[in-house]
Amino acid sequence: MADPKKLFIKTYGCQMNVYDSERMAEAMGADGYVTTETAEDADMVLLNTCHIREKAGEKLYSDLGRLKKLKAARPDVKIGVAGCVAQAEGAEIMRRMPIVDLVVGPQSYHRLPEMARANTPQVDTDFPLEDKFDLLPERKATRGPMAFLTVQEGCDKFCAFCVVPYTRGAEVSRDPQRILTEARGLVEKGVRDLTLLGQNVNAFHGDGWTLARLIRELAKVDGLERIRYTTSHPNDMDDDLIAAHGDLPKLMPYLHLPVQSGSDRILKAMNRKHTAEAYLRLIERIRAARPDILLSSDFIVGFPGETDQDFEDTLSLIRAVNYGAAYSFKYSARPGTPAAEKPEIDGAVADARLQTLQALITRQQRGLQEAMVGREVGVLYEKAGREAGQMIGKSDHLHAVFVNDPNGRVGEMVRVRILASSSNSLAGARIS
Ligand code: SAH
Ligand code: SF4
Ligand code: F3S
Repeated sequence: MADPKKLFIKTYGCQMNVYDSERMAEAMGADGYVTTETAEDADMVLLNTCHIREKAGEKLYSDLGRLKKLKAARPDVKIGVAGCVAQAEGAEIMRRMPIVDLVVGPQSYHRLPEMARANTPQVDTDFPLEDKFDLLPERKATRGPMAFLTVQEGCDKFCAFCVVPYTRGAEVSRDPQRILTEARGLVEKGVRDLTLLGQNVNAFHGDGWTLARLIRELAKVDGLERIRYTTSHPNDMDDDLIAAHGDLPKLMPYLHLPVQSGSDRILKAMNRKHTAEAYLRLIERIRAARPDILLSSDFIVGFPGETDQDFEDTLSLIRAVNYGAAYSFKYSARPGTPAAEKPEIDGAVADARLQTLQALITRQQRGLQEAMVGREVGVLYEKAGREAGQMIGKSDHLHAVFVNDPNGRVGEMVRVRILASSSNSLAGARIS
């Protein structure tokens, strides 16, 4: 038998891209490809791209620039571009970078093997009616006890700054029975901690189910010990989902609930369709259901028109919530979005605001992490640490925890007493 062909995939962007890359690797696997860790020894290089900010899109072109040499030395190497830049720019990518052989949008991955077999340039950025996941082969072995499962894609919210509704298309939910089947299959392969993914995961409405109903069904799956979901929109947090945080032990006490800004004026300009006050009231209700829940968020600083006062309002909101983590970004104008029509604020001002905001979040994150010292937590071992006998796992609150445990096994759930907190992780001792 001939040696299998080698596929190198580089993934940029969000967890949905991570999930998609795994599924694409499986689809290509059915066509005789195995994955490899470097582009140099690959027969095919696939860049799974992100379009969310300008820098993300530019990365594709700098990586393609570097791949020119490889293509010159081995013209048979296939170069593919997938993901959100593929969707946004389509054939334009090939005009700019003729080394690219194929461009495939996020809704057309099931066609990837066939496109890779072709001898002519291929572009597919259609939005087919079928669920692409049903057309892909069944999921195979996963890497470790934690896994992602995409349950919905796309977004109908049209925040004024965001490209996702254009690159991923309208909101589409998968069929709940298929999701349950996929989840059971993952558990059989050793998954214990499952994160349900969607651009707007709590807008899930597959076959009329809500996300809360889906989570309640998943909680009945034996062997599945932890359930998480991301990313949620504040306006889609319904009563049942909030209640589930209180009455489902398997639903983990961590919630990523992006607010973007704490200024009502900016929230309105962003088309977020809620106020800062409404967000804070929602957080209160979630904390009433699950008092120890750790919250995280996304923030954009320097949105067009943002004043010092608007930024102060964002800092006040952050102080009121006390976040365990957050992602924050300087506003980046994206072609085709309504906000891109508006004049931008001074870049240096936005940089300074970003630093101030990140310093505040870091203080909060460390404070909440230090509050874990002395507590007993559940830890799921994910991998061996660098030191002999060391295991690394995740707590219920998604903290990375280092444990000295020579007998520990990957995939094991243990009880740990937290002894110390450092900048990005905790250290603890196994107690059972
Ligand atoms: N669906 C999710 C997140 C989508 S993108 C949500 O609704 O929150 C992830 C994050 O990128 C966003 O939450 C936002 O903070 C950031 N982002 C999106 N577009 C951006 C832009 N044009 N400039 C800067 N940050 C942006
Ligand atoms: Fe983008 Fe807003 Fe949709 Fe999130 S909710 S994906 S920020 S448009
Ligand atoms: Fe980026 Fe597309 Fe995800 S733009 S953040 S990869 S949905």
